[in-house]
Amino acid sequence: MSQLGLKEQVGALYVGHHGWLRNWLNRRLGDAHHAADLAHDTFVQHGLLIAAGPGRSSSKPVAQPTNSSLLLVGCHSDREVPTMHALIVVAHPDQASLTHAIADHVAQGVAASGPQHSFEFADLASEAFDPRFTQADVALHLTKEDPPADVAAEHARIDRADALVLVYPVHWWSFPALLKGWIDRVFTNGWAYDAHPDVGVVKKLQRLQVHLIASGGADMRTYARHGYFGAMKTQIDHGIFGYCGARVATSDLLVSSDAGYPSSHLDAAQAIGKRIFAAQQ
Ligand SMILES: Cc1cc2nc3c(=O)[nH]c(=O)nc-3n(C[C@H](O)[C@H](O)[C@H](O)COP(=O)(O)O)c2cc1C
Repeated sequence: MSQLGLKEQVGALYVGHHGWLRNWLNRRLGDAHHAADLAHDTFVQHGLLIAAGPGRSSSKPVAQPTNSSLLLVGCHSDREVPTMHALIVVAHPDQASLTHAIADHVAQGVAASGPQHSFEFADLASEAFDPRFTQADVALHLTKEDPPADVAAEHARIDRADALVLVYPVHWWSFPALLKGWIDRVFTNGWAYDAHPDVGVVKKLQRLQVHLIASGGADMRTYARHGYFGAMKTQIDHGIFGYCGARVATSDLLVSSDAGYPSSHLDAAQAIGKRIFAAQQ
């Protein structure tokens, strides 16, 4: 086998399988770092086997794939439908709010899109997520300390998701403070992106698809007249998720002057949920 052929084979394996394998391991192990290590080891070991070829006679020691990594690749190749997982983040203190109902309908849509797909909620208000950016967050930003426990837990939740859905009311033409604090504390230097003085910003969330669902009280004419929705998209879609390399697949603003409000918002949410993993059917 030529070196070019080998590189192409390992590259194709990596591009085609590394993402799902790491996510799948992460969901089962509940440990992002362990999952990333195991996925990486699997590719290193398979790359070495390809390098050795089927009838290798070299006396050089070649790493053997672990039973688990072989089993994982075998499982995937036998499986016809990939399993996908959504993390639905809700930022509203009132469980009876329309915002929570919208989040529930997104989840119903994901569930209806196939029994192999799953979801979980991050209900920031009821979980009492602390949005305050403290000295510990400064130390993490400067890469002097590891993430505080609550931030590490949020990293793990996002690491095990293929899609991130944010559901929130518009407060002062932007995120509510609770959600902004979640972004500030969780989308950290070293995890969401790497800021290198020499090479610039390395975007680390390229595997993640994002869906944004905002609900506002003002009508669309007001949003259009002042460019508020455009400003939100610039700041949030582009400024936050684009900066980290995550693809904003949908970005919706639902307002109370919409026809059929509020049930039309619930229908829209369910339709968004159904489509999230549609390409994976
Ligand atoms: C503090 C605060 C700020 C708000 N700011 C805006 C705003 O800038 N633009 C807007 O359209 N609606 C604004 N609203 C209205 C809410 O976004 C709107 O009522 C939302 O749909 C409420 O969601 P809920 O029905 O789930 O409570 C604001 C509401 C509050 C409480």
